[in-house]
Amino acid sequence: MATFSPTLKQHQFFQTFGDETVLEILYGGAAGGGKSYVLWSMMIIKCLEYPGITVGLARNTLADIKKNTIASFYEVSINLGLVHTSYNYNSQEGKITFKNGSVIQFFELRYMPSDPNYDRFGGALLTFGCIEEAAGVPEKGKSIFQSRLGRWMNDEYNIMPQLFMTCNPGMNFLYSEFYRPWQKGELARHRTYIPALLSDNIYQSKHYKRNLELTLSEQDKSRLLEGQWDFDSDKARLIKYDTVLDIYNLSKYKSSGDYYISADIAFTGDKCIILLWQGLEIFKIYNYKGDEPEEEIIRIRDEYNVDPRKIVYDSDGVGKYLKGKLRMAYDFINNGVPINKENYSNIKSQVYFKLAELINMGLVKSRDTYLKEELIQEVYEIKSVPMETVEGKMSIIKKKEVVKNIGRSPDISDAMAYRMVFELKKKVGRSFFIG
Ligand SMILES: Nc1ncnc2c1ncn2[C@@H]1O[C@H](COP(=O)(O)OP(=O)(O)O)[C@@H](O)[C@H]1O
Ligand SMILES: [Mg+2]
Repeated sequence: MATFSPTLKQHQFFQTFGDETVLEILYGGAAGGGKSYVLWSMMIIKCLEYPGITVGLARNTLADIKKNTIASFYEVSINLGLVHTSYNYNSQEGKITFKNGSVIQFFELRYMPSDPNYDRFGGALLTFGCIEEAAGVPEKGKSIFQSRLGRWMNDEYNIMPQLFMTCNPGMNFLYSEFYRPWQKGELARHRTYIPALLSDNIYQSKHYKRNLELTLSEQDKSRLLEGQWDFDSDKARLIKYDTVLDIYNLSKYKSSGDYYISADIAFTGDKCIILLWQGLEIFKIYNYKGDEPEEEIIRIRDEYNVDPRKIVYDSDGVGKYLKGKLRMAYDFINNGVPINKENYSNIKSQVYFKLAELINMGLVKSRDTYLKEELIQEVYEIKSVPMETVEGKMSIIKKKEVVKNIGRSPDISDAMAYRMVFELKKKVGRSFFIG
């Protein structure tokens, strides 16, 4: 069999196996540090060394294991000289069975409302466990998974019920239980943290680093490339303050384009914001306070002769009622699937990123200065959520968070963002030169 040639950090990680003083081992803290590689090496080598053991491999979702983590399995198994007849990978059941009877069984750690106590792990009997990309994992999932360790052939082989984890910097238990205490020199005795950056990986590809530098946001660069745990919320902002103010700078700007209406619906009490647009310019802002917002939308539509298909409103909750009244309009579902299935956590994040992009390009304007201060504050507050992995989905921070920061619901920026569905749906006209 070919050998495993670990990096220095990977070697340290390997050394912890069987160390009676450590039960939880965390490796990583940046992208490309050889996390997936070393985790698979550990699992495969131990499976071959101890016939009949069962290793649990957990991640936030099974889909992530099957789509992303598994790629490293093939890479490592080839490098270790494992022939494909010596194991069986059953993707349906989520497990890899080796000829000697050892098994790597997959687990999904994400919180499911239908199984809040993780009863789905009930019968699992595991020798030791691994969590890949633990930054996205709820603590309860981690500890229940951990409670299943040490239950299969541990006495026969004298194997400890250790838990091996990899991660990028994250804001869950990893931060409070590992990173913070480690930094202060107060890490619990049964825990070990082995920080490993891209630069610690002698096998790193130059292209990989370059690609991350080009594609990641400033915030994600410092986290994923530099291994920066402390969250810099300024870097999470998608738009600079000056650029936000530029929305009101109309010098050299000429109105053009079709009329659109975008609305953040509320029937009572709350603010119902209706925006009338000409192209990407907000022409007029309405703060409707009555209980028939659909009538107000129809009134504006008729006054400006707006195409009924160029109206968008949010149909979550109270907005649902509007469906019958505005049949041709786009009913926006905040948690819906992104247009063209782009890599966003939901359509709400997608339209916000688009809004930020167009504002940064200086294309979004407002002629109406009504509620100017509120608009500026809300748009400036648009922030991205740091990605948990480089394969992660792009997301903006939760509304709850924004409400906490500005003390009210961001109704104006929501309405502005909804307008973006029409930009995202536009077919991009491209001509190809076929030579
Ligand atoms: N010990 C090793 N031997 C050979 N190649 C390695 C080794 N460790 C890492 N690599 C290479 O480095 C790349 C990045 O490692 P990976 O484990 O995928 O990083 P991470 O999971 O931390 O992002 C891998 O695809 C692999 O090609
Ligand atoms: Mg990885």
